[in-house]
Amino acid sequence: MTTRLTWLGHGCWSVAVENTSVLIDPFLTDSPASPVKAEEVAADFILISHGHFDHVADAARIANRTGATVVAIYEIAEWLSKKHGVAKTIGMNLGGSTALPFGRVKMTLAFHSSVLPDGSYGGAPCGFLLTTPQGKLYFACDTGLFGDMKLIGDEGLEVAVLPIGDLFTMGPDDALKAVELLRPRYVLPSHYNTWPPIAQDAQQWATRVRQQTGTQAVVLQPGQSWEIPG
Ligand code: NI
Ligand code: MN
Repeated sequence: MTTRLTWLGHGCWSVAVENTSVLIDPFLTDSPASPVKAEEVAADFILISHGHFDHVADAARIANRTGATVVAIYEIAEWLSKKHGVAKTIGMNLGGSTALPFGRVKMTLAFHSSVLPDGSYGGAPCGFLLTTPQGKLYFACDTGLFGDMKLIGDEGLEVAVLPIGDLFTMGPDDALKAVELLRPRYVLPSHYNTWPPIAQDAQQWATRVRQQTGTQAVVLQPGQSWEIPG
């Protein structure tokens, strides 16, 4: 049983649960931080956290090439289906979950905004909690710090992926507090260094995580993969 996380730069992650490829927030072709183009990635499922271009940019293109099922809040699922011809979508809403072949996906709260690139209403922004055979993986996606992260932590997390870029999301200080609330075994930083306004020293943040929490911080470079041990 293996679960492998690959950071594709910015907020985009590819999670391989055994042979299933789950792509989160694909922003590749126009991303200065992405090691790959939209044409080059595999996907069986695509999870979209909100409507901003730096999360939804390549979703339709990849779904229409691969036949992947897109999982998103209802409004974004409808937008992809009606305006971009995406054949398979699962529209859900905050607090709901759905059983997929690789595990259960729950849509969690996120404090952010959400409008689609053409101005369409994007519903509420969200994060995702994935229950896989190797444990629970929480992707906070774009959000500020919120106290109910403690409730997500109560689920018992193997992995948390948290934004540290600041400006548009939590910065390093709040992300450290988030680690204390979530108490995951491992934490991986995301949504930083794409552009100068969200430049951060992830290694320095990882050192603080190691010193101040019981969580192990794993810092990847764009294109790099990490497998959940054991
Ligand atoms: Ni955003
Ligand atoms: Mn973003």
